[in-house]
Amino acid sequence: MTLPKTELHVHIEGTLEPELAFALAGRNRVDLPFPDVDALRAAYDFDDLQSFLDLYYATMAVLLTERDFTDLTVAYLERAAGQGLAHAEVFFDPQAHTSRGVDLAAVIDGISAGLEIGRERWGVSSALILCFLRNLPAESAMQTLEQAMSIRADAIDGVGLDSSEVGFPPSLFDAVFARAAQLGLRKVAHAGEEAPPAYILEALDVLGVERIDHGVQAVVDPALLSRLADERTPLTVCPLSNVRLRVVDDLAQHPLRAFLEAGVLVTVNSDDPAYFGGYVGDNYVAVRDALALTDAQLAHLARNGVEASWATAERKAELHAAIDAWESDGRPA
Ligand code: ADE
Ligand code: ZN
Repeated sequence: MTLPKTELHVHIEGTLEPELAFALAGRNRVDLPFPDVDALRAAYDFDDLQSFLDLYYATMAVLLTERDFTDLTVAYLERAAGQGLAHAEVFFDPQAHTSRGVDLAAVIDGISAGLEIGRERWGVSSALILCFLRNLPAESAMQTLEQAMSIRADAIDGVGLDSSEVGFPPSLFDAVFARAAQLGLRKVAHAGEEAPPAYILEALDVLGVERIDHGVQAVVDPALLSRLADERTPLTVCPLSNVRLRVVDDLAQHPLRAFLEAGVLVTVNSDDPAYFGGYVGDNYVAVRDALALTDAQLAHLARNGVEASWATAERKAELHAAIDAWESDGRPA
């Protein structure tokens, strides 16, 4: 039995493998700025977050129809379920699609249908999180929120904040997050990926988020680390992403160990697995090897994911029981 895992930080658009990108380009008669799959994959050599985002947004040009979004979601769930994924809370970037003229209903309906297939075929429970692009004006975020909720309020569980970080602090989006809370949505935000701990504090204190996505820069601030531990604020850490985007020099230096030692509710996730060399299970294996984590520590990370998730109490109990069973058997990550 593989360790049962949650994934609380995955951008569905970041699961677009080059092979599927070219298949969709053909189906939709869209030109990609690369001759073939190998050339596209060869471009996955990033200097920082922005150099990745430039390619990430360019490749999305192939995603046009409801069926495309369903195919993308099903392909992700199939691969991740093969690595023990049991529960996924999936981000999507509506503004990256509506800005290209794609119908927002097609995006939400397509992803939702894919998540439903994931529940039926692989028993993966899930939630959907609408992310605002922080490099666009807050008015665009507000408009996107209202539009999405008028189309499919039933399909949206929470809101998040992503894209270029430095220069776009969380407080720019205070009114949008206040509105999201009024609409009954849960709140998370990317903070402290490349930007300093002050961004994490703003996300907590101004936006009122319940989880911090990434948050790795908290490692330089002992007072913040003890606050995160005391308040049991989850961090959704993405180890392979941090190496590929040069947020950390190498995995052996990753702050995951410091977070564990400080008692922070840290979780392991993949971010954009098609671009960063691995799905959620690959991330567990990579940190196990680089940081010499024991089976007990891997199980602890998986339990943190369950605690930090929005799964129902009944589902959480099921997932905890499955992790206990894995630990007593001592099986592969
Ligand atoms: N969008 C997709 N991946 C992201 C990341 N790692 N940081 C910010 N925005 C993103
Ligand atoms: Zn992310």
